[in-house]
Amino acid sequence: MDSYQVFVGKWKKLTGVDLNLYKEAQMKRRLTSLYDKKGFKDFEAFAAALEKDRALLDETMDRMTINVSEFYRNYQRWEVLDQKILPLLSKNGGTLKIWSAACSTGEEPYTLSMLLSSHPLVKDFQIIATDIDDKVLQSAQKGRYHERSLQEVPDHIKQKYFTKEDSSFYTVKNEVRKHIQFKKHNLLADPYEKQLD
Ligand SMILES: C[S@@+](CC[C@H](N)C(=O)[O-])C[C@H]1O[C@@H](n2cnc3c(N)ncnc32)[C@H](O)[C@@H]1O
Repeated sequence: MDSYQVFVGKWKKLTGVDLNLYKEAQMKRRLTSLYDKKGFKDFEAFAAALEKDRALLDETMDRMTINVSEFYRNYQRWEVLDQKILPLLSKNGGTLKIWSAACSTGEEPYTLSMLLSSHPLVKDFQIIATDIDDKVLQSAQKGRYHERSLQEVPDHIKQKYFTKEDSSFYTVKNEVRKHIQFKKHNLLADPYEKQLD
């Protein structure tokens, strides 16, 4: 077995995440660049350090699961959801059950909640927001964002659903949060919620 495969086995024991399910070349590149920066000479030395150092383990987990997000990321997709998909989903009335899978720091489920709250045909809804990474989930639950993440948010939505804290930070209002349940979930291993819209 090569040294990367030994690392993959140790990583699985430490975190429950199977790196063989990700693209090998991309994972190897990210990990090699990280251990180089940290001064380890190979996968074996890196794995030995990860077993002893919780902070290093968390940081490595962070680097491997890219957490980029933004409110109304890819704006046109949200318009399709608003104008085409939500009218269809709302046809039968009832509570819509929506899943934001791999929600990162929360911008996506909060955007969903704002969009659904403002939609004339949506009566009631709940959002399940999941991610594998505890740190991003904690940050999502805080609901506090730098204005950089709000660049795509239309002004009327910004005014209605955010509270401006100081010059550059915004907090999501409770009426947006109350629809969302954040949970840890591994897309590659855990069972899926049923009966989602
Ligand atoms: C680029 S972010 C996506 C954020 C958001 N969905 C969006 O489009 O704005 C990708 C997220 O996938 C999560 N992730 C990676 N592997 C995962 C897995 N196996 N199960 C659940 N989440 C995972 C990462 O932690 C990260 O937060």
